[in-house]
Amino acid sequence: MDYKNRTRIARIILSDEIALNTDVIILGLVRTVRVGKEVAFVEVNDGSCLKNIQGVVGEPDKFPVLSEILTGASVRIKGKLIESQGGGQKYEIAVEELDLIGPADATYPLQKKRHSYEFLREIAHLRPRTNTFGALNRIRSKLAYAVHQFYQEKGFYYIHTPIVTTSDCEGAGGLFRVSTIDHENPPISDGKIDWTEDFFGTESFLAVSGQLEGELLATALGDIYTFGPTFRAENSNTSRHASEFWMIEPEMAWAELDDNMDLAEEFLKYLFRYALEKCEEEMSFFGQWIDKEVRQTLASVADSQFERLTYTEAIKILESSSEKFEFPVSWGVDLQSEHERYLTEKKFKKPVIVYDYPEEIKSFYMKLNDDGKTVRAMDVLVPRVGEIIGGSQREHRLDVLENRMKEKGITNIEEYQWYLDIRKYGTVPHSGFGLGFERAIMYITGMTNIRDVIPFPRVPKWAKF
Ligand code: 4AD
Ligand code: MG
Repeated sequence: MDYKNRTRIARIILSDEIALNTDVIILGLVRTVRVGKEVAFVEVNDGSCLKNIQGVVGEPDKFPVLSEILTGASVRIKGKLIESQGGGQKYEIAVEELDLIGPADATYPLQKKRHSYEFLREIAHLRPRTNTFGALNRIRSKLAYAVHQFYQEKGFYYIHTPIVTTSDCEGAGGLFRVSTIDHENPPISDGKIDWTEDFFGTESFLAVSGQLEGELLATALGDIYTFGPTFRAENSNTSRHASEFWMIEPEMAWAELDDNMDLAEEFLKYLFRYALEKCEEEMSFFGQWIDKEVRQTLASVADSQFERLTYTEAIKILESSSEKFEFPVSWGVDLQSEHERYLTEKKFKKPVIVYDYPEEIKSFYMKLNDDGKTVRAMDVLVPRVGEIIGGSQREHRLDVLENRMKEKGITNIEEYQWYLDIRKYGTVPHSGFGLGFERAIMYITGMTNIRDVIPFPRVPKWAKF
């Protein structure tokens, strides 16, 4: 077959590279079919862009196959590219050949009507064929490219950190175990499971972050970034938490918290501009169907300064607001999503970077401030989504780090010897952060549930497909 000679619809409609009267072959899935006496229309989408192209069949009688072509079928159309006779589109195809490649019947779940997101999650194998999920998957790909472009142009090296680890970076306990031990009959020694018998000879888990290894590479290479899947077994069934999500983690040697905040702000603005300038078709779709204001918001945020304030200042603002919070506010508590939303949506109406958090609510690796009570942590909060970035300047002083690890109750410090070694030999001040890729996509597209910005979401009690 001549499949490889096909023309992608995006080249016709978006880049306008195909001249009128050119013979083209279109391969795609049928969105709608209308068969009349004089003329029939077969509208096809091939996934290269949002728009469909319409095949116009001049003498339907000569194409008996038309009666077998239903929504959802795959077809091959050959014909001339002509100016569209009807309104609404610029081009159509005057069909000369029409082949049904793979039929679909009336049970095809994606008939032409709007479906709820809940329903579409149940058919995540088919939802990429819808307008919304087509646009989402395309913008996800483009933004992934933008991430690499941003860091590569700045001279950061892309590194790959392990997915199987034996350490818990965030210390939050939300780890998925990796094991080949027979659950029903585990090896026991001294009344406990003997992990030395397990595949790796020790307890091992899926990584919650690539940061610890990222730090090792940064102190050797300078500036690095990771971009990979991370796993968290938190039992939080919210619209912002996934058990498997993608994270971008830059790590810079010779950088302090201010440099880190600058990089985070520059990075986010780059992604927002990239979406507006390089993903026009998708963004106009989201602007029309998902969130009318999303483009305007991104444009204004890309041109304004993020608000920066300390945790202590944030607490004062929350305490003196007249808002009724479900979780009461006082110095020392972790910010809940209602607090984050108040700061970003009501108080500042833009992204906010909160820094210098209490030492007790943050991880062991963050640099202790001279006050002994706060650490050089920073979170970037945005309206609607809340925390989108978490990061910090790292504790590079060996003695202070060892003390903090003990205080945090880390009993197996000897297993972090490799992490401590970079402080023991030629320690370097360094900083980094993690951006949740899905949360960034939620903010950029206006989508409100994380299950709808990753093709196959994994959340508590759901790992289908
Ligand atoms: O704030 P977190 O836990 O920070 C870290 O993992 C650090 N090790 C990063 C670093 O400094 N290199 O996670 C970073 C970001 C969050 O701000 C959020 O955007 C996202 O990762 N994130 C999640 N996204 C989806 N589902 C979850 N369950 C997430 N947990 C965190
Ligand atoms: Mg965080």
